[in-house]
Amino acid sequence: MIKEVLDWDSKFFGFPVEKIVLDRFFNEEQFRALLAESSADVVYIFAPQDLSPEQETTIACSGAVKYDIKTTFEKQITSGSISSKIVKVSESTDELERLAWAAGVDSRYNSDPRFRPYFRPLYSEWLRKAFLNTDSAVLAFMESGKIAGMVIISLTEAAGKIELLAVAPEFRGRGTGSSLLEAVGAVCLEHGKSLSSVVTQQKNIPACNLYSKNGYIITRQEAVWHKWKADNREDV
Ligand SMILES: CC(C)(COP(=O)(O)OP(=O)(O)OC[C@H]1O[C@@H](n2cnc3c(N)ncnc32)[C@H](O)[C@@H]1OP(=O)(O)O)[C@@H](O)C(=O)NCCC(=O)NCCS
Repeated sequence: MIKEVLDWDSKFFGFPVEKIVLDRFFNEEQFRALLAESSADVVYIFAPQDLSPEQETTIACSGAVKYDIKTTFEKQITSGSISSKIVKVSESTDELERLAWAAGVDSRYNSDPRFRPYFRPLYSEWLRKAFLNTDSAVLAFMESGKIAGMVIISLTEAAGKIELLAVAPEFRGRGTGSSLLEAVGAVCLEHGKSLSSVVTQQKNIPACNLYSKNGYIITRQEAVWHKWKADNREDV
């Protein structure tokens, strides 16, 4: 069992945020003690997705609520291509910002009512940072002069990581998402990365189907719970 103070989150949200990571064999007494000694306003609890019903009850009885089954997809990249409709963008626009929000619509920051006021600023910040980070690229799929879709890729030591991906509602179902993933493949190969990864939510069926259809496979799943300090919870 690991407990960690999350400095970036605490600074961004303006209140203390901590994280506890549970393994399959976590000690329930220790878990309760860790939570009891926490002074954070909210603790993220990361846990294996297949805990026993008793373990799930222990977490739920602490007052935590499960908001996400974080699902990581990966793909070994062997090919890629960049459609002539895809351009690299170097500054934000309102369309891109709306797409960034669309990318997070199923995220735990939008699902948890206490985080919801911070959801759009958080995803706008994610987009803003992509333009500042020299290891990131923002690609837009253009259709009739409009940005139909976008993907943010960041290059890590091991992989080309998809940070955000979204297609505007009126352009969905026409292969735009798949085309953006083809472009991700090309960027990975261009930078010598043979692996691409992306994190999404299990409940985001269109996204999970998109990644599966394009050769990505699930490599990790974990549940994420939020435990708010009692005097901060909406139901108190
Ligand atoms: C997920 C998303 C990017 C897909 O974009 P898209 O351009 O519509 O995707 P494509 O047209 O390339 O579809 C490719 C495959 O994705 C899956 N898919 C796309 N939309 C789907 C839907 N509404 N329901 C189920 N599966 C869907 C299908 O397997 C589809 O293949 P098919 O057309 O042969 O059935 C788009 O729905 C979107 O922007 N959603 C909101 C933002 C989001 O969830 N982003 C991902 C964050 S990780």
